[in-house]
Amino acid sequence: MRIRAATQEDFLKVHQFTADCTPLENYPEHVYKIILRYFGDYCFIAEKNGQIVGFAMGIVPRSFPGTYFLWQIGVAPSCQMRGIGEKLLREIEEELRKKGFVRIEVTIDPVNISSQKLFENMEYQNISKKAGKTVEVKGNLAVQDYYKPGRHFMVYEKRIGQLCDERITGI
Ligand SMILES: CC(C)(COP(=O)(O)OP(=O)(O)OC[C@H]1O[C@@H](n2cnc3c(N)ncnc32)[C@H](O)[C@@H]1OP(=O)(O)O)[C@@H](O)C(=O)NCCC(=O)NCCS
Repeated sequence: MRIRAATQEDFLKVHQFTADCTPLENYPEHVYKIILRYFGDYCFIAEKNGQIVGFAMGIVPRSFPGTYFLWQIGVAPSCQMRGIGEKLLREIEEELRKKGFVRIEVTIDPVNISSQKLFENMEYQNISKKAGKTVEVKGNLAVQDYYKPGRHFMVYEKRIGQLCDERITGI
């Protein structure tokens, strides 16, 4: 398996990949085109024999220097539970450290057990309390109405480094 940065030419394959990777949200094609065109160097594809087996995309919020927002991560259903998610995430962290990022933020659906396991195993912390008013969903603290009324999500972070002047921003 090889992990590489995504390019805008990947957008249709990525759109199909996310469509097949329930419960990942499958955004319209143009969303992937735009993200991969302008943030391709912050999006990652894991490939095996020319097929996408894993994908992650993220954006760099200008208002939070040093933070990378990991928007989506998925592993092909036939390849899940084999350590690919962890391997992909480890490589992403390494790449982001090299680029000078100090913090990764991700939001997790409290009913998504595999996602929660992946990030907790990799030492991401639930910081929902810092992010807003919380509610308990299936025993987990989530930010109330985070994505829309009734759509409560958990906010997690991992610190992967330190800014020299300690100006780490974010929540
Ligand atoms: C979340 C996801 C990326 C994990 O990738 P993966 O390659 O299956 O994960 P790994 O094999 O590296 O395993 C990581 C941990 O998650 C656990 N896990 C993975 N799938 C699981 C499942 N369906 N149920 C319970 N635990 C699961 C693994 O057991 C492992 O924990 P452990 O070492 O304590 O046993 C993958 O399940 C996926 O693509 N899910 C659908 C899309 C999604 O929900 N993405 C996240 C939201 S953006």
